[in-house]
Amino acid sequence: MNNQNRADVLIVDDEPNALRVLSAILKEIPYNVHEADSVENAKAVVSKENIDAVITDLKMPGEDGLYLFEWLKSNYPDIPVIFLTAFGTVDSAVTAMTEGAFFYFIKPPDYVKLKAVLARAVEQKRLRDEISNLRSRLESTYRFSSIVGKSPNMESIFRMVEAIKDSSINVLISGETGTGKELLAKAIHYTSKRHYRPFVPVNCAAVPRELLEAEFFGYEKGAFTGAVSRRIGKFEQAHTGTLFLDEIGELELSLQAKILRVIQEKEIERIGGTEKIKTDIRLIASTNRDLSEEVKLKNFRADLYYRLNVVQIKLPPLRERKGDIPLLVTHFIDKFSQREKKYISCVSPEVMELFHNYSWPGNLRELENIIERAVVLARGEIIGINDIPKEMRKQVKNNKITANSVKPLRELENETIINAINAFNGNKSKAAKALGITRKALYNRLKQVNPG
Ligand SMILES: Nc1ncnc2c1ncn2[C@@H]1O[C@H](COP(=O)(O)OP(=O)(O)OP(=O)(O)O)[C@@H](O)[C@H]1O
Ligand SMILES: [Mg+2]
Repeated sequence: MNNQNRADVLIVDDEPNALRVLSAILKEIPYNVHEADSVENAKAVVSKENIDAVITDLKMPGEDGLYLFEWLKSNYPDIPVIFLTAFGTVDSAVTAMTEGAFFYFIKPPDYVKLKAVLARAVEQKRLRDEISNLRSRLESTYRFSSIVGKSPNMESIFRMVEAIKDSSINVLISGETGTGKELLAKAIHYTSKRHYRPFVPVNCAAVPRELLEAEFFGYEKGAFTGAVSRRIGKFEQAHTGTLFLDEIGELELSLQAKILRVIQEKEIERIGGTEKIKTDIRLIASTNRDLSEEVKLKNFRADLYYRLNVVQIKLPPLRERKGDIPLLVTHFIDKFSQREKKYISCVSPEVMELFHNYSWPGNLRELENIIERAVVLARGEIIGINDIPKEMRKQVKNNKITANSVKPLRELENETIINAINAFNGNKSKAAKALGITRKALYNRLKQVNPG
């Protein structure tokens, strides 16, 4: 790209007049306009310049617009192609659309609409460029190709990971649900020196309490009824690799004590065993609670907390990195349209605005799910407002804040608590978990809402 960051657009047409008219119109915008009167010349321009979008005539003597489209698809798949077609050749243009062409216009095009479509095509190309730049930069420096983000808080996380990845110090990753804790844990492991050794995750909230100890440490044959053969636990499996203790805040106190001992002594004992087994493990733990708060409430052992919290990485919620939304949207659209074998280019401006105004309680997972659903539903190449769940649209509408609607924080907090309990049909444990507080804390707050 040269000239003040302007986009570079290539127009291909064998009729000199058509070229001249379109070129003059696009220069007003202003774009850097390149012209080619044949496919051969168009290929030469694309190879030399950094073209952001191509507008091509369909029918030309010799190699035609479709041929150019196929060539671009195999050599420059990110460049969007817009066809101009005479009435008689609409069928071929429609076929090209199903194969990933960006748009087509019947000649003479409506120039206002053409400009709008071109602007969208250029924007899409730029987002794709940004993602691939980010990817190659991350691949070379951090090799975190799957983590998308360029907001300052994510950049500082990338730097932090870069600094600690090869040491074996323990890492605590905190963040609300769906902020990417597991993805980050994997990234740390797979970029570290231990990357060719196992990454072993254990979800402390998903395994029933009474099975968790066996899950962690394994057991010898006959250790208890049902122990028909020896079983190796997760700590042992993770030897020389990384053990990921997901949702460590859910761990009960007795197991916290056992894990602390393993960390200090660097050895484990299988249940029912006598032998001490040496382990060399990097521990990464994650939590969606404020563990220091849990320590104060005596739900979490302070000594274990300090052991785990040598380095803490806080993943910001999506509402605090809304600048990353366009990148993430493009990333997820690419992911799911490839899987669905559909060609979807972007979301409509209306949807993007909705995304910017939404609060994203489910964070990146929620965004990912919404895009997945929309890609499956979308009929055209653009995700429209009707492909987005109604509840989300309603929520954004209700959230539009006016001076009159500002409420005291305490009132909002109470409302949130009541809503959470209703959402989980009165199940207070689940409600507390979703709110990121302990059950005890929830009961305390309920007492304040409803004294006596
Ligand atoms: N920065 C990111 N770029 C791309 N995808 C992301 C990013 N962060 C998270 N995701 C995706 O969002 C989803 C949720 O991420 P993940 O499971 O790591 O979150 P989590 O914090 O562990 O959530 P929970 O607390 O609910 O377990 C995953 O599918 C993940 O791939
Ligand atoms: Mg998780």
